[in-house]
Amino acid sequence: MRLIPLFLAFAALAAEPGAPLPGITSAELELFGLGLEDFNEVETAEEGLGPVFNGTSCGQCHSVPAIGGIATMTEVRAGHVDEQGKFTAINGETLFSVFSIGKHECQVQIPAEANVIARRVPTPLFGAGLIEAIPDTAILALEKPVGDADGVKGRAARITDVATRQPRIGRFGWKAQQATLLAFSADAYRNEMGITSDLFRDELVPGLSPRQLKLCPSRTGPEDVRSRETGLRAIDNFENFMKFLAPLDRGAAGDDAVEGERIFAAIGCAACHVPAMTTGPSANPLFDRKPVNLYSDLLLHDVGTGDGIEQADAKGNEMRTPPLWGLRFRRPLLHDGSAATPLEAIRRHGGESEAARTRFLALEPVEQKHLLAFLGSL
Ligand code: HEC
Ligand code: HEC
Repeated sequence: MRLIPLFLAFAALAAEPGAPLPGITSAELELFGLGLEDFNEVETAEEGLGPVFNGTSCGQCHSVPAIGGIATMTEVRAGHVDEQGKFTAINGETLFSVFSIGKHECQVQIPAEANVIARRVPTPLFGAGLIEAIPDTAILALEKPVGDADGVKGRAARITDVATRQPRIGRFGWKAQQATLLAFSADAYRNEMGITSDLFRDELVPGLSPRQLKLCPSRTGPEDVRSRETGLRAIDNFENFMKFLAPLDRGAAGDDAVEGERIFAAIGCAACHVPAMTTGPSANPLFDRKPVNLYSDLLLHDVGTGDGIEQADAKGNEMRTPPLWGLRFRRPLLHDGSAATPLEAIRRHGGESEAARTRFLALEPVEQKHLLAFLGSL
């Protein structure tokens, strides 16, 4: 049995950001610790990093305010839209990596035919295991195919999970592109770090010419293999870390924040930023019918901010409602990091959220202050 690092044992007691779920068993805490270690491990080209990559460890982009959070970086997606509005992923992929393992000869180039460019900030992972445990049916139940009186629709992302090959409802990522933490781990290991696995066996190389590929050799076959000691792949370790990672605690909420939450619901923000969902029945008490206070419906919406990129089931104009829990630790805001403050993010809400924005703008200044105090307490 491995020794559990002392700080993890303390973190579990104190519910600090980055702590595991309260009630975690010692066997689970061991998996969480192993996962945390791998999540922070810096990879090298010898270990499979590249040929192109955005970061060298998961922790690099998921570390604020604690490991599992965010970072100030953005990554780049690009594609082509023709005159009929049909989107094409150039060479089948939309992600264009920032760095390469070689010299400048194998640096990724965004092809000239790309006429859509998008940037995306990282999303935090606190409470991800609880989000994973929300049943597909609970997300589907929130869909509004014809739209409510405000014109709020919301569509579940119907995807195939690469880990199980089952049809599932996506919930992770700005486009709700993945349903499970194992699939997202494999997706991120390949997309962010260039490390292939059983689930994504081919390197991600859009923006590299065949000549460049010779200069910056890409390996075939999975680079992430099972550890002889634990029998686990790195992607299993990442999954375990994120699954057992606790949500951030709510900040202090005074009377103004309480009043602000009432206004948030009254003006229609909660139509998409649904305050709580519930996990399904589970043999594991950590995930058995637990409330998940995420402030999201996990559905795709057109709120006028879409990044133009078609990905998984999401259209160019659709984005997943971002969970607002932990918002006080998150800046910048919106998928591309273009909003500095919650107020600016609200002002950018159009499309399906036009009515809610209009009502917000019509509030008394003191009511707006209460609503912002509520957001500041998340
Ligand atoms: C270079 C920065 C970077 C690195 C390295 C990175 N990520 Fe991310 N991560 C992001 C960004 C950006 C997003 C949002 C992506 C999107 O939706 O397009 C994200 C989103 C996620 C999400 C979705 C969470 C949610 O609820 O939406 C998961 C899970 C995740 N990353 C796991 C990982 C794991 C595991 C690793 C290591 C294998 C990793 N990430 C490495 C930048 C990074
Ligand atoms: C129709 C659904 C919908 C409604 C109604 C709605 N939102 Fe949003 N909200 C979204 C989506 C989708 C995004 C992400 C947009 C993007 O990043 O491009 C978002 C983003 C945000 C963000 C930024 C979060 C982040 O992580 O970057 C905040 C803050 C926010 N909304 C608050 C509100 C408030 C306050 C209201 C009510 C005035 C509201 N929203 C109404 C769907 C909605």
